[in-house]
Amino acid sequence: MSTPVPLLGENGGLRFDRLPPLSLYVHLPWCLRKCPYCDFNSYEARGALPDREYVDALLRDLRTELPLAQGRPVETIFLGGGTPSLFSGPAIAHLLDGLRAEADLAPNVEITLEANPGAVDAASFAMFRKAGVNRLSIGIQSFRNAQLRALGRVHDDAEAEAAVATARTAGFTNVNVDLMYGLPGDTVEGAVADLERAIALGPSHISWYQLTLEPNTAFERRPPVLPDDDVVAAIEERGRAVLAADGYERYEISAYALHGRRCRHNLNYWQFGDYLGIGAGAHGKVTSLPAAEIARRAKTRNPRTYLQRAGTAQATSEERIATRAQAALEYLMNALRVLEGTTLETFEAHAGQPAEAIGAARAAAIARGWLGAEPHRLRATPAGIEKLNRLLELFA
Ligand SMILES: C[S@@+](CC[C@H](N)C(=O)[O-])C[C@H]1O[C@@H](n2cnc3c(N)ncnc32)[C@H](O)[C@@H]1O
Ligand code: SF4
Repeated sequence: MSTPVPLLGENGGLRFDRLPPLSLYVHLPWCLRKCPYCDFNSYEARGALPDREYVDALLRDLRTELPLAQGRPVETIFLGGGTPSLFSGPAIAHLLDGLRAEADLAPNVEITLEANPGAVDAASFAMFRKAGVNRLSIGIQSFRNAQLRALGRVHDDAEAEAAVATARTAGFTNVNVDLMYGLPGDTVEGAVADLERAIALGPSHISWYQLTLEPNTAFERRPPVLPDDDVVAAIEERGRAVLAADGYERYEISAYALHGRRCRHNLNYWQFGDYLGIGAGAHGKVTSLPAAEIARRAKTRNPRTYLQRAGTAQATSEERIATRAQAALEYLMNALRVLEGTTLETFEAHAGQPAEAIGAARAAAIARGWLGAEPHRLRATPAGIEKLNRLLELFA
């Protein structure tokens, strides 16, 4: 008997009939100071930033990535960090001009830049806006100065409020505020007061994260005393009610938006869309139709090494998602974070397999009450969201 010849476009049981939408993540790795809870690939800036040199490296990196776009326009761009607002206005303008010159950007491209209230400059904000940034994400974390000190932040509450005002003056109408709860010394009243001060500033989006102790951080080595689970549960209950009362709809575990203001970039991640990643330590995920595979790509993490290697093969490492089970699990780890879930049709297109491939696990999750029983949708119930890791284990 002859060996079966694989069908073109099939590999490890994966098969793709179309490519998902494409985003671009750009990592800018420097901060004024490293926060003790943070495990992002970020480094304290010592002396002047090599921002022009770094932007040139990013554009070299982009040129090597662009064939992976396979003809798709870039729908969203996220300049994340680190603290991208430390970069000068001209450096960000040079970066965005370069992206526009090299890549095909969708006409309504969403371009987000992350800012820290300790790195705010009115003239730079105005230049970011003029250069094409149309969404600003400000890392405030808390408006309580005791908590800000405990978190090792470089700013106080007045600077946090001023950052949002500066963003508005610069012409930003789409502004996200990052806050955290479950902080050292946290109380229900304090955490709710943080939300109320954020809401009073009228951002279009609030990301409200529970503080987690991450490996290889100063907080892991010397953990602060954090509030008990019942206090955290009460903070979540009260906080979500306050956000909802002011029109901030919870659409993902930690994301709340006014109508029409969901973060399109993060939604593409959560729907297992594709993204190119450029910059030190940036990650990308790219589907290939002819090879019928998903590649995960990562750039070298150290900024100095990255500056030397960007644009060469040594800057990138790659792993392949090779099986249906792995693709399905990774899809669901993302998609079930979104409260309205996704359609089975999107699952089939982006995870490269028929819905029947996860039929048994899906039935088990529905039987436990963790997935809704809707015929065309994969949606975690509130109980499923609470027990997301156990729900995902059914698909592992
Ligand atoms: C990469 S930071 C970008 C913002 C900017 N660097 C800043 O901190 O002002 C993204 C956000 O992740 C959140 N974050 C970082 N570490 C966290 C942790 N250990 N637990 C929960 N949220 C965290 C913070 O809210 C932070 O604003
Ligand atoms: S400023 Fe943001 S990215 Fe930088 S260390 Fe702090 S939390 Fe991490």
